[in-house]
Amino acid sequence: MTGRELREHPAPPLDHRTIDPKILYFGTPVVLLSTLNEDGTSNLAPVSSAWALGRLLVLGLGATGQTARNLAARPELVVNLPSADLWWRVERLAPLTGRYPVPEGKPPGCRFAADKFAAAGLTGQGSELVAPQRVAECPLQLEARASRLRSDGSGAFVVVEADVLRVHADRDLVVPGTQHIDPARWHPLIYSFRHYFGLGPQLGHSHRSETTPRPALHPTGSDAADR
Ligand SMILES: Cc1cc2nc3c(=O)[nH]c(=O)nc-3n(C[C@H](O)[C@H](O)[C@H](O)COP(=O)(O)O)c2cc1C
Repeated sequence: MTGRELREHPAPPLDHRTIDPKILYFGTPVVLLSTLNEDGTSNLAPVSSAWALGRLLVLGLGATGQTARNLAARPELVVNLPSADLWWRVERLAPLTGRYPVPEGKPPGCRFAADKFAAAGLTGQGSELVAPQRVAECPLQLEARASRLRSDGSGAFVVVEADVLRVHADRDLVVPGTQHIDPARWHPLIYSFRHYFGLGPQLGHSHRSETTPRPALHPTGSDAADR
């Protein structure tokens, strides 16, 4: 759309209310964090407070969980990205902690599980540069090392910065002959206000995108007309 067209078709006005929601999970991808337990096994935890700045990842963790504890002692991790169809396996992990005994402050019903891979029917796969195992079923796996852990003001949360050391991508996601992920083939699992979603059809792309949308996968949407 041109600037003039944008002015002629303003977005409709909204009617805002002031509310006080219990949670602010406003729709971010779910990652499964593998970290190393003291006994050398790998713990696994679903986390939706995760985002990337270049090759730096920023993660938000509850301070009492096993994941935060493991990272404070052993900074290596794998950030595994499940596709949307794995949501129910992720949900199997939701009431579990790798910390024994279960710490105070965990929600009611939370219980200890020594092997969360088995609890979710997921397969451990050796990593190349770090000790925690990858999740074989996850199409994207980021081996990383935490460089900074910082407590928030309340002490309830830990903010982690981690440097990505190696990226593993399922071959079907990679644009052949390039280093690019094909966004038409990657289906992240989105956590929005405690509900799981996949992505809807593509609406467009950034002016910086270096991948060509594939017509066969997205026959609808504004991009179809641009190609
Ligand atoms: C979809 C989903 C997203 C979650 N996001 C986060 C998160 O961003 N940060 C966090 O600390 N816990 C998050 N949790 C809760 C942890 O997975 C939960 O506290 C778990 O017991 C942590 O395991 P651990 O104690 O073995 O580390 C999430 C859970 C689910 C199911």
